Amino acid sequence: MTTFWSLYITVLTVGSLIALLWLVFATRSGETKGATDQTMGHSFDGIEEYDNPLPRWWFLLFVGTIVFAAGYLALYPGLGNWKGILPGYTDGWTQVKQLEREQAMADEKYAPIFAKYSAMSIEEVAKDPAALKTGERLFATYCSICHGSDAKGAMGFPNLTDQDWRWGGDAQTIQTSILGGRHAVMPAWGEVLGDQGVHDVAAFVTTKLDGRKLPEGVTDAQVANGEKLFATTCVACHGPEGKGTAALGAPDLTHPGAFIYGSGFAQLQQTIRHGRQGQMPAQEAYLGKDKVHVLAAYIYNISRPENAN
Ligand code: HEC
Ligand code: HEC
Repeated sequence: MTTFWSLYITVLTVGSLIALLWLVFATRSGETKGATDQTMGHSFDGIEEYDNPLPRWWFLLFVGTIVFAAGYLALYPGLGNWKGILPGYTDGWTQVKQLEREQAMADEKYAPIFAKYSAMSIEEVAKDPAALKTGERLFATYCSICHGSDAKGAMGFPNLTDQDWRWGGDAQTIQTSILGGRHAVMPAWGEVLGDQGVHDVAAFVTTKLDGRKLPEGVTDAQVANGEKLFATTCVACHGPEGKGTAALGAPDLTHPGAFIYGSGFAQLQQTIRHGRQGQMPAQEAYLGKDKVHVLAAYIYNISRPENAN
């Protein structure tokens, strides 16, 4: 802010406060002291007004608000370029500085608790009810927006409570997924295979899905062609049995529950034609290792088969 506008705001604000203070006192000093029976001399529908001073507590409220305003403007940056002298803030208070300060205080308070968990293995932390409560809260804050509040996922976002893992469900791999994030790349095959090829390979994938019936009109020859295409184009990532490769995040294509983009015939063709790029954002720099440790334990716990609901 330029000096001119800074001065403009300061003079206007401080001037108004002084004027208000004067007004409050000036109108009071002219009043008759104590309660009187004297009226103001006007009457409305037979109701008259007494000429009594403001009650003392009411008058002091006015003075109080002005004193509060003066204190507030001294502590906080409200007057032009004035930065305020709130203790604990060098060079003035800002919302960002207050947030950082509160976060630092919270970190200091909770660091020993998280450090205790970090010294334990994820499997052990997963048995600690207090840690799991913390994990649940962290999950609700940072993860539920994509994975759902029940962690059961949604279109494009994996269910974290089942046994269908894209990258792996052991404690260490879950932690790695959260710390470093994941970027899955399923290439687009539309150009390479053409419409017929996409159709046939989708038909073949359908036959690999438990008990799934082929759509009307799909011939055995098309499925056989699809199988051939699968063996040349898909095995590299999804494996000869179509069971997937965790190192690439290539999912198991034989199990309907493993699909996050849908396993219907049309959805399969859509995925194969245009490809998919699922992204799990890395949390290490954002949440820090210790919180991720607790989160990994939480996910590990809710995904154990014995905890499935
Ligand atoms: C370069 C490795 C690679 C190749 C080759 C590849 N895929 Fe994939 N595929 C992936 C990855 C990685 C994913 C996971 C994408 C994601 O999570 O966003 C995936 C996802 C899929 C999905 C979606 C599963 C879901 O979760 O809904 C289908 C269907 C699929 N692939 C079929 C195929 C078929 C059919 C072929 C051969 C034409 C093929 N893929 C070739 C890596 C590959
Ligand atoms: C912006 C959306 C988003 C947020 C936020 C997010 N995730 Fe994910 N996450 C994904 C996507 C998408 C994938 C799947 C990536 C892929 O296609 O392989 C994933 C994958 C994962 C996986 C691997 C699953 C597997 O099958 O191997 C884990 C574990 C995971 N997320 C945990 C978390 C945790 C814990 C948090 C909270 C700190 C979180 N995610 C926040 C989108 C998100």
